[in-house]
Amino acid sequence: MIVNIGSKIIRIDQIDSTNNYAAEQILTKRPQEGTLFISDRQVGGRGQASNRWESEPYQNLTFSVVLYPDYLPIQEQFLISKAFSLSVVDFLRLHTDRVTIKWPNDIYVGNRKVCGMLIENSIHHDKIGSCIVGIGLNINQMNFVSDAPNPISLKQITGKTLPLDLALTQLCNCMTHRYAAILEDQCDALHHDYLFALYRLGEWHHFADQNTDYIGRILGVDEFGRLVIEDQKGRHSSYNFKEVRYLNTESE
Ligand code: BTN
Repeated sequence: MIVNIGSKIIRIDQIDSTNNYAAEQILTKRPQEGTLFISDRQVGGRGQASNRWESEPYQNLTFSVVLYPDYLPIQEQFLISKAFSLSVVDFLRLHTDRVTIKWPNDIYVGNRKVCGMLIENSIHHDKIGSCIVGIGLNINQMNFVSDAPNPISLKQITGKTLPLDLALTQLCNCMTHRYAAILEDQCDALHHDYLFALYRLGEWHHFADQNTDYIGRILGVDEFGRLVIEDQKGRHSSYNFKEVRYLNTESE
């Protein structure tokens, strides 16, 4: 059964975080799968690793999608990251080129971040009971004031304003299409597309883990979504989120 992402869209005038709002709604009302909560004024947006997410009111897309992928074992949760990262890539490629996924799910244009994702799962009997996919996609903002290292918006890239309603409609189509791949058991295709969209795949660059700085190249991601990097001696390391840093990106 296809889940139509955004078939129900709930607009909230001002909110701290659409992820928080979606979590409350799941507890109190269990909204239908694919419901999208969006706010033009998200004032306490949350990012990865307790960072904040900057978004100027009325300039960008900040929203959360509710899913109930209760057929998915928790070990396979990275499939959701793959599907939604690729949906943003598909959307952005309608408007620009040089779009990649910086593992695990930052979306880059060139060396700059145009979109971040905060995916929050609740576990039920070793399966994913509910999942909130929170997406912050910079569309028309022209100045970024926070200390985020390298933000950019689509307008800064293309020079054109994109109406937010049009952007959301296009993105909902992309999300529906990519999420269907999980339900239709096309996970190999998702994996393939994810790999080929990966930022710096196969290129030699500087990385840092808890032990050392080294030159390595990304080989891919394993079945658990860990990033696999090969060093110059041919040794492979697999990393969970925040266990490795990319050095020498434009401003990191
Ligand atoms: C990141 O740090 O890259 C993740 C950013 C995620 C931001 C989005 S905006 C909509 C949703 N609500 C939140 O509070 N965060 C996510």
